[in-house]
Amino acid sequence: MKTEILTLSSPKGHEKELEHAASVLRSGGLVVFPTETVYGIGGDATNEHAAARIYEAKGRPSDNPLIIHVADPADAEPYAVTNDTYYKLAAQFMPGPLTVILPRRERIPLSVTGGLQTVAVRCPSHPVANALIRAAGVPIAAPSANLSGRPSPTLASHVIEDLSGRVEVIIDGGECEVGLESTIIALDGDRGTLLRPGAITYDALCCVCSEVTIAPACLEQLSADARPLSPGMKYRHYAPRASLVLLDGDVASVTSFLVSAASRQGVGILCYDEEQALFRSAAPLFPIGHRDDLGEQAHRLFAALRAADEHADIHTLYAHLPPREGIGLALYNRLIRAAAHTVLKV
Ligand code: TXA
Ligand code: MG
Repeated sequence: MKTEILTLSSPKGHEKELEHAASVLRSGGLVVFPTETVYGIGGDATNEHAAARIYEAKGRPSDNPLIIHVADPADAEPYAVTNDTYYKLAAQFMPGPLTVILPRRERIPLSVTGGLQTVAVRCPSHPVANALIRAAGVPIAAPSANLSGRPSPTLASHVIEDLSGRVEVIIDGGECEVGLESTIIALDGDRGTLLRPGAITYDALCCVCSEVTIAPACLEQLSADARPLSPGMKYRHYAPRASLVLLDGDVASVTSFLVSAASRQGVGILCYDEEQALFRSAAPLFPIGHRDDLGEQAHRLFAALRAADEHADIHTLYAHLPPREGIGLALYNRLIRAAAHTVLKV
């Protein structure tokens, strides 16, 4: 299949291209589009064949459910059983990087929800995503637009690397703002369970829900027989080619460990920007932002991990164990899973 690439950083003046992409979606085709979190590979969420094609294009197990994307929070009504807490969360955080798990209505096929009786609903704030969903006139099922097992794409070039020839259209909307996937919360009345941390933080959710529990799988390794609350939790998600080791310790100890590690062959380092000058040896460095700027680190993490994967000679990749505050919890969650929970105390 020849993949068409459309470059549009804003919907303004691009109504014709958006209408074309929307018609591809309505006829069961796949369109990759930018969102404020990561790029998504979209198909009509009411069409089983489109869902099957998404799983196939990504190489994703079909029991791992898809998020449906709507242009307005109330557009979820025909597809999900909403409640007061959903609308309270929507008033605060939608459009934006939040996904809410709700009971499914029949118009969403079970192939989209991985056989579950619930459905994940998200209303993205990226203007191109919003305009595309509106033009399509149907909710768009969209997982992250990476091949299964690779980091989520934050640039169109990442998508082209993974999915060229597997989808009809890729919309290049530039760099994704957040860089990590949306926060996912499941609701039970006004109580929430955080299934995946993201840019909408635990503290922010606590301002709306009476209580928020962090699902253990966000932070710890699931035992082999545990049944995860979100099917995605049981997959390794992303494993770098090199073994990733997270370093836990005070600044001085971690720095001296890294300086000595950098002199060894086959070592790569995901470092803070200000650390680059410390390493005069040849070790490949992948700077992810300043130590105190967790937002910037979230924004750059996946691109840095992709860059590290290009170095065939790296066998061990070191990174700092992020603090779990604010968006740090989301960074922690992605890194700890990529490292298969390997943390070295130094
Ligand atoms: O930011 C995002 O959410 C991006 C962009 C494209 O919107 N999408 C994304 O989708 O990250 P995906 O498929 O890569 O991750 C969705 C996660 C999976 O781990 C899946 O298991 C979980 O959401 N999920 C989907 N439906 C669910 C449900 N009904 N119950 C529990 N977990 C669900
Ligand atoms: Mg994903």
